[in-house]
Amino acid sequence: MSERSDALVLFGATGDLAHKKIFPAIYALAAEGRLEIPIIGVASSPGDDGFIHEKLRASIDELVPHADPRVVDRMCARLTYVSGDYRESTVYDLLAKVLGNSKNPLFYLAIPPTLFDDVVAGLGRVGLAAAGRVVVEKPFGRDRTSAAALNACIHSAFPEERIFRIDHYLGKESVENLLIFRFANSMLEPIWNRNFISNVQITMAEDFGVGGRGKFYESVGALRDVLENHLLQIVALLGMEPPIGADATSLRDEKVKLFRQIRTFDSDQLVRGQYRGYIDEDGVDGGSDVETFAAIRFEIDSWRWAGVPWLVRTGKDLAVNGTEAIVTFNAPPRLLFTPEGTPQPGPNYLRFLLGKADGVKLHLHAKRPGDDLVPEPIDLQVSYDEALGPRQEAYQRLLDDAMEGDARRFGREDAVDEQWRIVEHVLEHHDRVYLYDGGTMGPVEADRLAADVGGWVDPVASAT
Ligand code: BG6
Repeated sequence: MSERSDALVLFGATGDLAHKKIFPAIYALAAEGRLEIPIIGVASSPGDDGFIHEKLRASIDELVPHADPRVVDRMCARLTYVSGDYRESTVYDLLAKVLGNSKNPLFYLAIPPTLFDDVVAGLGRVGLAAAGRVVVEKPFGRDRTSAAALNACIHSAFPEERIFRIDHYLGKESVENLLIFRFANSMLEPIWNRNFISNVQITMAEDFGVGGRGKFYESVGALRDVLENHLLQIVALLGMEPPIGADATSLRDEKVKLFRQIRTFDSDQLVRGQYRGYIDEDGVDGGSDVETFAAIRFEIDSWRWAGVPWLVRTGKDLAVNGTEAIVTFNAPPRLLFTPEGTPQPGPNYLRFLLGKADGVKLHLHAKRPGDDLVPEPIDLQVSYDEALGPRQEAYQRLLDDAMEGDARRFGREDAVDEQWRIVEHVLEHHDRVYLYDGGTMGPVEADRLAADVGGWVDPVASAT
């Protein structure tokens, strides 16, 4: 294994992502003694070290309950600030000076992709890319062509093994659990295929709108924002073959293989929606056709999955907040020994709760108490918080991984390309959005996609 990074440089240190996710992750690592290195915040706002310390403290105060002030003080003692225009060479000269003898710094680019070119070239010019690692945030491009251009740009200074493309769903314990749940429980493997599974549904529902992110959201929409990345990652973990090892190459090889088995989506497989009132949000265009809801139905062309419908949907301002994957098994035949006219058992399903209150539910049937032999649905349920205790947040794990040079939970170039390939046609070719009322489960037009499998199964509410 390569050496752990000996400095952390955060571009976009005054931005929203740094405030919401990266500073709390830095705090969590520092609290565990895993960040005893110089940290350098870079941004264009003028300011001194005190300025960035204030930003860090504001983030921790707001987002880390019961933070230890001694840890925060220790972080401030390590945190310095470099301000400057990313297009000017002076900022990189200054950075090189501040980094001094650092051998393999980690550069975290929490900045818009339009700035990557300048930053990567700047780092390369002063020799900082020579042994450094780079973390790039999503969205990784806005289609296949721009993702390829971004890859070429980053590759001009960093080789693939030192590039860490973030999809924070890969860092979620609840999502990664899918891999262990499938492959460490041997009772599942014989039935994890087209002979026993009737359909798979994944819903990522959010009960809030775009809030202050209207301008950003206008440039992405639900397909680019979450379906192409977070939701396809869940598909991959549920659908892929067992990897031949736990190393980054083996895991990512299997995912890419799965993505290759999904044909490029066509417009009749997709229903897009927009919540009423979206166009009144700050930064949103009055005539916007950007989708805040997307539902897609597709198949995976493999011996394991041929003929099994996969239904994936996501939306903002929906009735519940919850992310779930539901694997539904074939319905049992009619129970011949039950009295005429009694309800027949529906299918079993496994419900993976992937939000904050994560866990798993297995939907079964038991005997209803009483004289007759009648089935009654019951759930076997496990809360991972109760069973496994607290787990680390995605960003903490991902930052730790990148510092360690461990690429298992990051997107590889070929996977990113495949993910864009899967959605590339529907990004451009689609019907206008259907409007839906906030607080519903999206436009009724999406119901047709799931009509023959008994309809969509809504997630149970859970904080995400
Ligand atoms: C982000 C999207 O990547 O993921 C947001 O840009 C979305 O629109 C968020 O709300 C959801 O992440 P989580 O971890 O809250 O499920």
